[in-house]
Amino acid sequence: MNQQADLGDWSPWEFERNGQKLMKLIRGHFEQIRNIPITTHISPQELMNLLDKPLPEKPVPFEVTLNETWNKVIPHLTHWNHPSFHAYFSNSASFPGILADLLISALNVNAMVWKSAPAASALETIVLRWLAEMIGYNHEADGVLVNGASLATFYALVAARDSLSDLNVRTKGLTGHFVPRLRLYTSDQAHSSVDKAAISLGIGTDNVVRLPTDESYRLIPTKLEEAICLDLENGYRPMAVVATVGTTATGAVDPISSISEICKKYGIWLHIDAAYGGFWYLVPEVKENAEDLQLGDSIVVNPHKCLYTPLEVTALFCRQKGVLANSFRLIPEYLNTQKEDGSVDYMDYTLQLGRSFRSLKIWWVIQSFGREGLANRLGESIRLTRWLTKEISAHPNFVCAASSPFALVCLRYVPQTIRTIWQKAAPEKQRVLSEYLNRLNDELLRQLNQSGTAYASHAVIRGRYVIRISIGNIHTTFEDIKSLWNKLQELGPRVGVSMSSPTIDG
Ligand SMILES: Cc1ncc(COP(=O)(O)O)c(C=O)c1O
Repeated sequence: MNQQADLGDWSPWEFERNGQKLMKLIRGHFEQIRNIPITTHISPQELMNLLDKPLPEKPVPFEVTLNETWNKVIPHLTHWNHPSFHAYFSNSASFPGILADLLISALNVNAMVWKSAPAASALETIVLRWLAEMIGYNHEADGVLVNGASLATFYALVAARDSLSDLNVRTKGLTGHFVPRLRLYTSDQAHSSVDKAAISLGIGTDNVVRLPTDESYRLIPTKLEEAICLDLENGYRPMAVVATVGTTATGAVDPISSISEICKKYGIWLHIDAAYGGFWYLVPEVKENAEDLQLGDSIVVNPHKCLYTPLEVTALFCRQKGVLANSFRLIPEYLNTQKEDGSVDYMDYTLQLGRSFRSLKIWWVIQSFGREGLANRLGESIRLTRWLTKEISAHPNFVCAASSPFALVCLRYVPQTIRTIWQKAAPEKQRVLSEYLNRLNDELLRQLNQSGTAYASHAVIRGRYVIRISIGNIHTTFEDIKSLWNKLQELGPRVGVSMSSPTIDG
């Protein structure tokens, strides 16, 4: 009889009581968020020692778990929701999105087929249409929500490969019969997920043609056409071009319209990675940089990168209806359900079978802010970025190394003394100075992140180490950006003094 105590779950009442405790702690976390360290400096070994313990045989009271979480886990995270977190693409989870994630778990439905979660599939269809409208894509297109842009790009490229119907890869595979060398074209700035897709597709990284970019880090269409022609002469088979709207390092935008013309001319699939850039179409000041997205045969946009929706959620669209199902539909008997008009079985569109109710969190975010509210919030990030970019450009000891049309700026600390020496220096000396500046900026970033005032990440563009500031957090204010800028100005000279610099003759 005693065993009964070990069965079952909390009662709904206990759930509510514990939930209220958690909510109170989360409220405190957000009220205090500017006072908590953005990141931790604990070593992996120390952290493991702090957290590791034997597998619990008996129940641990929830209060203890909460205490441990708040005292040992949360202090040793890097806080992406911190308003001064500007690393990578600094997304943030908004409150409606956070609450939706709770409800998604509470309902725990599986949106694999329409019948297994009808309203979840219906909402997925609706939010996909809304998202397509928000980026100017054909809202009649096939779409599906997946966990991230990397997998979305992989799925799109599977569809691209299978659109080469004479190869019949889906049935025959890639080996044991003649398949020409399949080629993918993208810029030297495109995300590594393109190479990962090539690896997983069996195409191989040698067949990812990385094309040079112009002075603004955009793919050069003439180079693309030259590469395609050369490959055709050599008997290779162009499979797809991946263009980017909002590259990872500098937020650059490839010339989609010219690329699309080339793709049409040679009958090549165009995939657009607009994981970061797509939703800027909502903001009138920068909209022109995210136009032409409808020219993609497929496109990926990330609500978890730009639309205040908690990880993990990405939307993939394919213009031609049926192409995803053509690649991924495979129905074992136990999943054979009666089809009704208007129903969609989202398991048919990707590799994933069990699927969470991702659409709910996008639905709640869009309902809570509206298209206009989202556009205003994104617009504020643009205004903050423009202010910072102007300050950097006007400062004698900083340079704006690359500015995106979107809310991202890459900067470098370049003391004027070094700039003066540089101008007179021979190439070999310039190389030494460049290496010094790279180390200087690496150290500046390290000290910025150590300071706790703000947290940023880096990129290396054409050999130059730059500090990347991405502004995308829903809670970030002008004061936050001002204090980041003040900190950089304070730390720059200090780091300069601490690192001996090459002299004109040294
Ligand atoms: C341009 C671009 N595409 C794709 C990705 C991959 O996104 P995800 O993390 O959703 O797979 C990233 C990640 O930063 C990115 O910057």
